[in-house]
Amino acid sequence: MWGAVVCGDRLSLLLRGALVVTRLRMCSSRVYRALKRSPRQQETASVAALRSIRGPAMSLSGKVAVVTGAAQGLGKAFARVLLKNGTKVALLDVDEDAGAATEAALRDEFGSDATLFLRCDVCSDEEMKNAFQKTLQQFGRLDVVCNNAGIINETNWQKMVDVNLNGVVRGTYLALQHMKKENGGQGGVIINVASMAGLGTIPAVPIYTATKHGVVGFSKALAAASSAAGYGVRINVLCPAFVQTAILSSMQMEETTGQFHSLINMVEKLMNVHGILEVDEVAEALLQLLQDETKNGAVLMMNTKGATYTNLPAAGDSRPAATHSSVVI
Ligand SMILES: NC(=O)c1ccc[n+]([C@@H]2O[C@H](COP(=O)([O-])OP(=O)(O)OC[C@H]3O[C@@H](n4cnc5c(N)ncnc54)[C@H](O)[C@@H]3O)[C@@H](O)[C@H]2O)c1
Repeated sequence: MWGAVVCGDRLSLLLRGALVVTRLRMCSSRVYRALKRSPRQQETASVAALRSIRGPAMSLSGKVAVVTGAAQGLGKAFARVLLKNGTKVALLDVDEDAGAATEAALRDEFGSDATLFLRCDVCSDEEMKNAFQKTLQQFGRLDVVCNNAGIINETNWQKMVDVNLNGVVRGTYLALQHMKKENGGQGGVIINVASMAGLGTIPAVPIYTATKHGVVGFSKALAAASSAAGYGVRINVLCPAFVQTAILSSMQMEETTGQFHSLINMVEKLMNVHGILEVDEVAEALLQLLQDETKNGAVLMMNTKGATYTNLPAAGDSRPAATHSSVVI
């Protein structure tokens, strides 16, 4: 469904439809063939296979990360996988109870000096600035920032834009301020968490869709700026389909979908197509995206069948957009 059809005439529509069906059929065998292909062609793989086809890997041992929305769900799983790989992690979240409980659990597992919970609303410039400052005071450096905090709320859509898009911009700019080489930083990696809704559309959540498209566009533009200006910072985007977390249940509630609630069956159909991922599977993909030193401006989309780096059109590329559409997995 993500293969956008942009051309008008009917024959072309039929041919493109047939192409999408053929791509779907070819997908599973492509996953296994990916390992045998040249590095340039290796774009589609199961999540486990990503490790084998990635470029040179950045070491995470001794590094320091900030993860927003880390009290539960994906953020907690991202923090855990980073800790397992020797990175110290500041956990930022508005939910103090869940944050303190997660901090205690992670300290039990990884030691009391490995992690730090900071109550922080990604909508507040001041709280975000203070949280980054405290992270530096506690751990002495900053190498990785994962802007993950997000909500679904189509009724209070202004708040959702503030958390999902402005919060990511805020976290990304602060990360650059501390990590980019022209400011005396040591470089680093930013992973912004978008969604499958950042590449295609989910009609029941149009503003959520818009915020996630915003995260993809912002991150790609800034990644290009980073390359051009030599920031020494890689900026990549993770686009999972459905994941078993609290946000998934909230997506099915009338308070959050509001006037679009009658379209919820369309979400259920999408869930049947894409399946529901576990947080640890997404955390493994985050690790590969983060560590692959060849990736800047990469957009990794994943569902229960595997993961694909999408090829979105670049502003300077004159080829028709359809030739760039991402492979459906
Ligand atoms: N679960 C899915 O199906 C799915 C799929 C694709 C993308 N995502 C994205 O993954 C990210 C994480 O979501 P999740 O699935 O773990 O949901 P979740 O609800 O389990 O976790 C979200 C976390 O963000 C925190 N948060 C919310 N508002 C905040 C704010 N203003 N400041 C700081 N923290 C705040 C919450 O307290 C919570 O701990 C979100 O950006 C979401 O859009 C989720």
